[in-house]
Amino acid sequence: MKILVVGSGGREHALAWKLAQSERIQMVYVAPGNGGTARDSRLVNVNITDLHELATFVEREHIGLTVVGPETPLAGGIVNLFRSRGLKVFGPTKEAAQLESSKDFAKAFMQRHGIPTARYQTFSEVAPAHAYIAAMGAPIVIKADGLAAGKGVVVAMSLDEAHQAVDDMLADNRFGDAGARIVIEEFLAGEEASFIVMCDGKNILPLATSQDHKRLKDHDQGPNTGGMGAYSPAPIVTPAMHARVMREIIDPTIAGMAKDGIPFTGFLYAGLMIDDKGTPRTLEFNCRMGDPETQPIMARLKTDLLTVMEHAVNGTLDAVELEWDRRTAVGVVLAAEGYPDAPLKGAVIDGIPAETAESVTFHAGTVEVDGQLQVSGGRVLCVVGLGDSVKMAQKQAYETVDQIAFEGMQCRRDIGWRGLKH
Ligand code: AMP
Ligand code: GLY
Repeated sequence: MKILVVGSGGREHALAWKLAQSERIQMVYVAPGNGGTARDSRLVNVNITDLHELATFVEREHIGLTVVGPETPLAGGIVNLFRSRGLKVFGPTKEAAQLESSKDFAKAFMQRHGIPTARYQTFSEVAPAHAYIAAMGAPIVIKADGLAAGKGVVVAMSLDEAHQAVDDMLADNRFGDAGARIVIEEFLAGEEASFIVMCDGKNILPLATSQDHKRLKDHDQGPNTGGMGAYSPAPIVTPAMHARVMREIIDPTIAGMAKDGIPFTGFLYAGLMIDDKGTPRTLEFNCRMGDPETQPIMARLKTDLLTVMEHAVNGTLDAVELEWDRRTAVGVVLAAEGYPDAPLKGAVIDGIPAETAESVTFHAGTVEVDGQLQVSGGRVLCVVGLGDSVKMAQKQAYETVDQIAFEGMQCRRDIGWRGLKH
């Protein structure tokens, strides 16, 4: 069987890497892919991004199944298009992807179905937004309604910062259409976790838990990024917490979408905030897997991913039981100089060691130029180490990190630190 993975990041490299391990796989195409998927002899990059052209490619090559990584093609209706052409694809429809593509949609949905989340209001006018902030006080959180590549959220610790964020988004149009409406919500304190499940429209299959590190610098300092590293499992999600999140958040979300006439298929990612009393609330939904969470999660998955994907598109996920490596996986992102604001491209990357049973390096912002590997984006690589404890997995990951070099390389040295406390 041939399969197509849509996207070009570390998440897509990890998904393609795992799919390629299946004995029944004839070929894994990645569109458009990156330098790492180009180098892997089991994967083939396809330089197509237009959705109609992709569908035509899938028909011509008799590709049996397409897995979509990023949110942009999902919000653009790739699933609707592929299904209308009779092609098997795993992901949410454009309508269901609104759980991620519109914060206002997601908040109204959660309120309607009693799913725990921060209190909020939506605004498109400047004056009432300022008045709401004055009434609520700081800290407070301001979010652009639409997709803003992870940059549309301001956690304002002071009133000044909050008013400034409203002006930036609503008055100065900093996020264009994505910020023409904003959600202002209550600040939630606690520890975050990423809770990702697969859904075929009715059956729900939870993946291993994980935790992301969004700030650029050690000790969670510095600006927000797309994610500087992740590890799995996340010890804060105990078996009891897992059951509670399924009962209070995931089950009502899938049931609520079905009830609203927009059944959810695909990966559903609930970003959780768990407070000091152990109450989980939903910070956000993503309609896809997380990046970099996917990299440590895939490194731990033992079950054949092709079989899982087939059940997912055929509505039989209830027949699947996932098997996980009992070890912890720690994934460290190596980022380009200038990331996140203005990443520098072109640095030559040296020293990536071959994969072992304890470590694997996934590519993101890399490109192969005349046989040489170069930096082509902000997040360049994600180095995953596996070990019997968080500490041992960290040691594995950083031993590999220390073999890799490119000019201006940035990485955190503390990925997994919250896992050491539990
Ligand atoms: P989001 O894209 O909605 O997940 O927001 C990005 C990040 O902002 C989250 O991972 C949190 O660290 C933070 N954040 C979002 N909403 C809140 C909130 N209501 N309270 C505190 N922090 C938040
Ligand atoms: N790691 C966060 C995200 O994928 O949105």
